[in-house]
Amino acid sequence: MIRVLFVCLGNICRSPMAEAVMRDLVEQQGLSAEIKFDSAGTSSWHIDEPPHKGTQAKLREYGISTSGMCARQLTKNDFEAFDYIVGMDASNVQNIRDMLGEPDSQKIFRFLDLTSHKMDVPDPWYTGDFQETYGLAVEGCEALLELILKPSRA
Ligand code: 4NP
Repeated sequence: MIRVLFVCLGNICRSPMAEAVMRDLVEQQGLSAEIKFDSAGTSSWHIDEPPHKGTQAKLREYGISTSGMCARQLTKNDFEAFDYIVGMDASNVQNIRDMLGEPDSQKIFRFLDLTSHKMDVPDPWYTGDFQETYGLAVEGCEALLELILKPSRA
Protein backbone atom coordinates (compact mmCIF):
# COMPACT_ATOMS: atom_id res chain seq x y z
CA MET A 1 0.00 0.00 0.00
CA ILE A 2 1.37 3.40 -1.06
CA ARG A 3 0.08 6.43 0.88
CA VAL A 4 0.17 9.96 -0.54
CA LEU A 5 -0.56 13.22 1.30
CA PHE A 6 -1.20 16.46 -0.60
CA VAL A 7 -0.59 19.64 1.38
CA CYS A 8 -1.41 23.32 0.82
CA LEU A 9 -2.05 26.28 3.10
CA GLY A 10 -5.80 26.06 3.75
CA ASN A 11 -6.64 22.51 2.55
CA ILE A 12 -9.71 23.86 0.77
CA CYS A 13 -8.48 24.85 -2.74
CA ARG A 14 -5.37 23.17 -4.17
CA SER A 15 -4.63 20.06 -2.09
CA PRO A 16 -8.23 18.76 -2.16
CA MET A 17 -8.23 19.39 -5.93
CA ALA A 18 -5.08 17.27 -6.29
CA GLU A 19 -6.41 14.60 -3.93
CA ALA A 20 -9.70 14.25 -5.81
CA VAL A 21 -8.02 14.25 -9.25
CA MET A 22 -5.52 11.62 -8.10
CA ARG A 23 -8.22 9.43 -6.60
CA ASP A 24 -10.17 9.60 -9.85
CA LEU A 25 -7.07 8.77 -11.93
CA VAL A 26 -6.19 5.82 -9.73
CA GLU A 27 -9.78 4.51 -9.83
CA GLN A 28 -9.73 4.71 -13.63
CA GLN A 29 -6.53 2.65 -13.65
CA GLY A 30 -7.99 0.06 -11.27
CA LEU A 31 -5.34 0.77 -8.62
CA SER A 32 -7.58 1.95 -5.76
CA ALA A 33 -6.65 -0.97 -3.52
CA GLU A 34 -2.93 -0.20 -3.82
CA ILE A 35 -2.73 3.58 -3.42
CA LYS A 36 -4.42 5.74 -0.75
CA PHE A 37 -4.69 9.52 -0.57
CA ASP A 38 -5.39 12.29 1.87
CA SER A 39 -4.79 16.03 2.03
CA ALA A 40 -4.05 18.54 4.78
CA GLY A 41 -3.32 22.23 5.34
CA THR A 42 -0.34 23.75 7.10
CA SER A 43 -2.73 26.28 8.67
CA SER A 44 -5.64 25.61 11.03
CA TRP A 45 -7.84 28.22 9.32
CA HIS A 46 -10.38 25.96 7.60
CA ILE A 47 -10.42 22.81 9.75
CA ASP A 48 -13.59 20.72 9.19
CA GLU A 49 -14.68 22.77 6.16
CA PRO A 50 -15.51 21.14 2.81
CA PRO A 51 -13.46 22.12 -0.27
CA HIS A 52 -13.90 25.69 -1.55
CA LYS A 53 -16.97 26.16 -3.74
CA GLY A 54 -14.71 26.87 -6.71
CA THR A 55 -12.84 23.59 -6.23
CA GLN A 56 -16.12 21.70 -5.82
CA ALA A 57 -17.64 23.27 -8.94
CA LYS A 58 -14.58 22.62 -11.10
CA LEU A 59 -14.34 18.99 -10.02
CA ARG A 60 -18.09 18.50 -10.57
CA GLU A 61 -17.62 19.86 -14.10
CA TYR A 62 -15.22 16.97 -14.74
CA GLY A 63 -17.45 14.40 -13.01
CA ILE A 64 -15.28 14.09 -9.89
CA SER A 65 -16.94 13.93 -6.48
CA THR A 66 -15.80 15.82 -3.37
CA SER A 67 -18.32 14.09 -1.14
CA GLY A 68 -17.05 13.54 2.40
CA MET A 69 -13.93 15.68 1.95
CA CYS A 70 -13.15 17.82 4.95
CA ALA A 71 -10.16 20.06 5.76
CA ARG A 72 -7.67 19.14 8.45
CA GLN A 73 -4.30 20.43 9.60
CA LEU A 74 -0.98 18.64 9.01
CA THR A 75 0.23 16.79 12.13
CA LYS A 76 3.58 15.33 13.17
CA ASN A 77 2.15 11.79 12.78
CA ASP A 78 1.74 12.40 9.06
CA PHE A 79 5.45 11.94 8.49
CA GLU A 80 5.35 8.25 9.40
CA ALA A 81 1.83 7.71 8.04
CA PHE A 82 2.62 8.69 4.42
CA ASP A 83 5.17 7.63 1.81
CA TYR A 84 4.91 10.82 -0.28
CA ILE A 85 4.14 14.26 1.21
CA VAL A 86 3.51 16.65 -1.65
CA GLY A 87 3.40 20.44 -1.16
CA MET A 88 1.55 22.58 -3.68
CA ASP A 89 4.07 25.44 -3.52
CA ALA A 90 7.54 26.19 -2.17
CA SER A 91 6.21 27.84 1.00
CA ASN A 92 4.05 24.77 1.70
CA VAL A 93 7.14 22.56 1.34
CA GLN A 94 9.13 24.76 3.75
CA ASN A 95 6.25 24.80 6.25
CA ILE A 96 5.86 20.99 6.00
CA ARG A 97 9.58 20.54 6.69
CA ASP A 98 9.44 22.94 9.65
CA MET A 99 6.25 21.47 11.14
CA LEU A 100 7.42 17.86 10.81
CA GLY A 101 11.02 18.61 11.82
CA GLU A 102 12.28 16.99 8.59
CA PRO A 103 14.60 19.43 6.80
CA ASP A 104 16.03 16.85 4.39
CA SER A 105 13.52 14.05 3.80
CA GLN A 106 13.17 13.06 0.15
CA LYS A 107 9.56 12.07 0.67
CA ILE A 108 8.63 15.77 1.00
CA PHE A 109 8.69 17.65 -2.34
CA ARG A 110 6.90 20.25 -4.47
CA PHE A 111 4.11 18.83 -6.64
CA LEU A 112 4.98 20.41 -10.00
CA ASP A 113 8.69 19.63 -9.63
CA LEU A 114 7.56 16.26 -11.03
CA THR A 115 6.55 18.02 -14.27
CA SER A 116 8.36 20.21 -16.80
CA HIS A 117 6.66 23.25 -15.17
CA LYS A 118 8.79 23.13 -11.99
CA MET A 119 6.65 25.88 -10.45
CA ASP A 120 4.25 26.56 -7.59
CA VAL A 121 0.58 25.75 -8.14
CA PRO A 122 -0.91 29.28 -8.21
CA ASP A 123 -3.43 29.67 -5.40
CA PRO A 124 -6.99 30.13 -6.71
CA TRP A 125 -7.95 31.58 -3.32
CA TYR A 126 -6.14 34.67 -4.68
CA THR A 127 -6.30 34.18 -8.48
CA GLY A 128 -9.88 32.88 -8.73
CA ASP A 129 -8.66 30.62 -11.56
CA PHE A 130 -9.81 27.11 -10.62
CA GLN A 131 -9.43 25.90 -14.22
CA GLU A 132 -5.70 26.58 -14.05
CA THR A 133 -5.50 24.67 -10.75
CA TYR A 134 -7.42 21.76 -12.23
CA GLY A 135 -5.20 21.55 -15.34
CA LEU A 136 -2.00 21.64 -13.29
CA ALA A 137 -3.45 19.07 -10.84
CA VAL A 138 -4.06 16.66 -13.73
CA GLU A 139 -0.51 17.12 -15.05
CA GLY A 140 1.02 16.75 -11.59
CA CYS A 141 -1.08 13.70 -10.71
CA GLU A 142 -0.16 11.93 -13.95
CA ALA A 143 3.52 12.54 -13.17
CA LEU A 144 3.07 11.45 -9.55
CA LEU A 145 1.35 8.23 -10.58
CA GLU A 146 4.24 7.49 -12.92
CA LEU A 147 6.70 8.08 -10.07
CA ILE A 148 4.72 5.79 -7.75
CA LEU A 149 4.49 3.02 -10.31
CA LYS A 150 8.10 3.32 -11.53
CA PRO A 151 10.09 4.86 -8.65
CA SER A 152 13.43 3.79 -10.10
CA ARG A 153 12.92 6.12 -13.07
CA ALA A 154 12.43 9.22 -10.87
P1 4NP B 1 -5.30 26.63 -0.43
O1 4NP B 1 -5.82 28.13 -0.61
O2 4NP B 1 -4.04 26.71 0.40
O3 4NP B 1 -5.04 26.17 -1.82
O4 4NP B 1 -6.41 25.86 0.27
C1 4NP B 1 -6.09 29.02 0.43
C2 4NP B 1 -7.23 28.87 1.17
C3 4NP B 1 -7.51 29.78 2.19
C4 4NP B 1 -6.65 30.82 2.43
C5 4NP B 1 -5.49 30.97 1.68
C6 4NP B 1 -5.21 30.07 0.68
N1 4NP B 1 -6.94 31.77 3.46
O5 4NP B 1 -6.24 32.81 3.53
O6 4NP B 1 -7.89 31.54 4.25
